[in-house]
Amino acid sequence: MPDTAPASPLSTAPPAIETRVTRLLGIRYPIVQGGLARVAFADLAAAVSNAGGLGQIAVAGLDGPEGLRAEIRRCRSLTDKPFAVNFPIGRTDIWPLLDAALDEGVRIIALTAGNPAPYLKRCGEVGAKTLVLTAGPELARKAEAGGADMVATVGFEGGGHIGRTDETTMVMVPRTVAAVKIPVLASGGIANGAGLLAALALGAEGVEMGTRFVATREAHAHDAYKAALAAAQPADTVLIKRSLGMPGRVLNSPYAQRILAAEHDGTPREALVAMIRGEMNALGTDGGDLENSYVWAGQCVGLIDAVEPAGHVVRRMAAEAAEGMRRLRALVPA
Ligand SMILES: Cc1cc2nc3c(=O)[nH]c(=O)nc-3n(C[C@H](O)[C@H](O)[C@H](O)COP(=O)(O)O)c2cc1C
Repeated sequence: MPDTAPASPLSTAPPAIETRVTRLLGIRYPIVQGGLARVAFADLAAAVSNAGGLGQIAVAGLDGPEGLRAEIRRCRSLTDKPFAVNFPIGRTDIWPLLDAALDEGVRIIALTAGNPAPYLKRCGEVGAKTLVLTAGPELARKAEAGGADMVATVGFEGGGHIGRTDETTMVMVPRTVAAVKIPVLASGGIANGAGLLAALALGAEGVEMGTRFVATREAHAHDAYKAALAAAQPADTVLIKRSLGMPGRVLNSPYAQRILAAEHDGTPREALVAMIRGEMNALGTDGGDLENSYVWAGQCVGLIDAVEPAGHVVRRMAAEAAEGMRRLRALVPA
């Protein structure tokens, strides 16, 4: 048989895609695995980085600086490629964790959910590259002014915490690109090569993805959660915590409906905060009880059909984007 079939995107490395983000981070494809609280540890980070993207270890869910040090060392044993550590600001004092990561030699730091300025300064002092997760032009400008090397901007479709404006990725990305000089990563609703290509077309220089990477073999999440993501449609996600000023997108469930009803009924803040405490997320994420918990998920569940190795996701996206580029070029006759 003549060898005309395209090589499997999973067996050979698709062509590199170069942007300022890949050059800054030293990676082959501008695909960043989001920091995923309780889900993204060494196995996932290493699998993504080994495939040419950027993996991240999320500190949320780890046991203090010593737990983080152990996870960083484990990741190093699994990959010689760059990876990042992701810090949600504001919940706990992250200084001891940040110091541990920098001391372990991690030189890519991602910050989210708070004022990153003091941490950006510290990272700058040791030459660590920084990525700040924002939602829209105003926050991106602040991150840039604080010294961030890159921002990711997450739109309404995204899984987990999003901005308060209901602005979609399609609108938010070009507005953010226009607002800052540093490279922008598009986030929210991206799960395949077409999404990567669209992000590049909007002026982004890469993508940051959460939900797609939860539904991978290496993600530290219960199989029932992963399977539910692969089965779900976009309308199976709902926004909770709007009344707390911190909207977050989750898979719909009886428990998510109870939270929504409590928000609607004007339940006092303390009672609401108790309903969304970390244990209730862990019950589904780690325990697989999706009825009596809430688990984060974005609308891109509608683009996910299967739980796969994370490296396949990265390589397939790169191959799809390259193929899509060829298709688009053909639309413009020479
Ligand atoms: C399970 C889960 C946990 C998350 N935890 C974090 C986190 O700890 N830190 C962070 O920066 N973003 C977190 N996010 C947001 C993701 O990094 C990413 O911005 C978001 O998922 C993008 O939308 P997508 O799900 O449509 O790809 C989380 C998202 C999910 C789905």
